[in-house]
Amino acid sequence: MIPKDFIDALLARVDIVDVVDRRVPLKKAGQNYQACCPFHQEKSPSFTVSPTKQFYHCFGCGAHGTAIGFLMQYGGMNFVDAVKELADDVGLSLPQDTGFGPRPPAAPQLGEALEAAATFYKHQLKGSPRAINYLKHRGVTGNIAARFGLGYAPAQADGLRAVFRDYQALELASAGLVIDGERGRYDRFRDRIMFPIRNLKGNVIGFGGRILDRGEPKYLNSPETQLFNKGSEVYGLFEARQAIRSAGKVVVVEGYMDVVALAQFGIAYAVATLGTATTPIHARTLLRHTDRIYYSFDGDNAGRKAAWRALENTLEALQDGKEVAFLFLPEGDDPDTYVRANGAVAFENLLLKQAVPLSEFMVRHLIENEATTQESRARVLKTSQPLLARLTGAPLLAALIRRELGQRLGIGGEEVNGLLGQGATSRQGNGLRSRKPSPPPRAAAQQASLYRQIARLLVHKPEWAVRIDRDKLLPAEPFAQELAELIAWLSSVTIRSGAALEEAARGGPLEKLVETLHMETMGLRYVFDDTEAEFSDLLKKIRLNWARKRYAELSQTPQDRLSATELDECEELKELLRRT
Ligand code: UTP
Ligand code: MN
Repeated sequence: MIPKDFIDALLARVDIVDVVDRRVPLKKAGQNYQACCPFHQEKSPSFTVSPTKQFYHCFGCGAHGTAIGFLMQYGGMNFVDAVKELADDVGLSLPQDTGFGPRPPAAPQLGEALEAAATFYKHQLKGSPRAINYLKHRGVTGNIAARFGLGYAPAQADGLRAVFRDYQALELASAGLVIDGERGRYDRFRDRIMFPIRNLKGNVIGFGGRILDRGEPKYLNSPETQLFNKGSEVYGLFEARQAIRSAGKVVVVEGYMDVVALAQFGIAYAVATLGTATTPIHARTLLRHTDRIYYSFDGDNAGRKAAWRALENTLEALQDGKEVAFLFLPEGDDPDTYVRANGAVAFENLLLKQAVPLSEFMVRHLIENEATTQESRARVLKTSQPLLARLTGAPLLAALIRRELGQRLGIGGEEVNGLLGQGATSRQGNGLRSRKPSPPPRAAAQQASLYRQIARLLVHKPEWAVRIDRDKLLPAEPFAQELAELIAWLSSVTIRSGAALEEAARGGPLEKLVETLHMETMGLRYVFDDTEAEFSDLLKKIRLNWARKRYAELSQTPQDRLSATELDECEELKELLRRT
């Protein structure tokens, strides 16, 4: 049994575009992504994936679902296996549901708290000449600060009190925004330049905060939370995504400031790890977005060490056809200072001319000291063995590296192969095959009834359910029963996204209804923009509808049978209807 909260947190972190793209390569088409449908035969693409709604939908055969649903339908997995696979991908581990202890706040609440804090910090930056000066002094333009959502956390102990009605709320601590100390609660980030860290959907999941003057620590980061995992998140990926696609490469740098500076100089395809070593999950994520990674490190000893860690952790994700290279900057420089002093062209030239291919870096590192004795040759081969074994996805590269090692050790390629064994063989694709395509959907009626329109909106914005005045709903209207059931259920859950809602409904009485509504909205060819304006308009129509009916009732009743309040009400309704 997987707790519903976990599914929520998982879907908040997973990006369906990535999940699908890895199995069925997608092309961007307007706001969405498209491909030929993997679930039925077709020549032109009608399979669509929506990054904002986190659903896939086929206009041809009606296949539809969330990231979890996709793995089930495409990979033939069961629910639990699909959840496990996705969790593994984003570095979440399945919780042991003991059923005891206080339940932590759900991921959506954390997300809201973080967004509110980010807005507050941004606003504070505008009002702090000291913070503005600091950024100016470092050459950061207002434009680029806005692009990365930079902010400023004021120096007070409890600045966030201005944002949250309940400063003691559990989610502030769970989101890592405050610290509960011995003498009470205080803001984690104080008097720092704030770098919001966003996930691939653009939602704020954590912060890095830089001190303005000297002090320790120079950067303070959000702690690990339900939403934020340093080992799987990459700073700047949301902002860089498009640029990475069009440049066909990504540069991984060490610092927030490096990402910001490079972007300011037009190198928008840079990202950073979050003060941690590059992990296998980072490497996998990045190689999913592009075929070429450049790791840029400082030219000092620490930089070389970090580069080697990155190499070790990239081997498993590497595939033949993909390229990984390492750029070591001149000592004393980081990408920020380098690009500001020398410009973008110089930096890009470094990438092209100075970057060391992974194979070369590996061989050089392994044969650090000239191996002149058989013992030292043996040592080199022994250390290379487990590394080469990790190149399961790049057997060709592994073979070439083996040959190169042999040549440099003066052994000869054939012999090295013998000494090191055949090496890894390529892993076969795991035979993903679609099941039977689902039947084509009934054409979604473009002119849906009022209540159906509302229901369609609610399955994307579940949190709006509480705003509907339930006793203004008319039971005789089409779709009234379904809408009432939907609202009742939505008011009892805390889910804030359509995809999470669909998963929460799975196996329950509303499963079919929720799925149908999602399909209808995904299937609508006109733009469905679940906006506040659209919703307010629908709310108004509900009230008007009700007012009309009520007025008809009252005005048909003989006057002497109406109470004084009913008479007043009748007048009010008449006035309301006259005005609209
Ligand atoms: P650096 O010390 O190289 O700083 O840290 P930087 O990025 O060049 O920053 P500026 O230019 O002095 O402002 C690189 C990265 O390591 C992490 C941060 O993610 C930082 O961007 N770091 C560094 C920490 O998490 N904590 C620290 O105290 C220092
Ligand atoms: Mn720096």
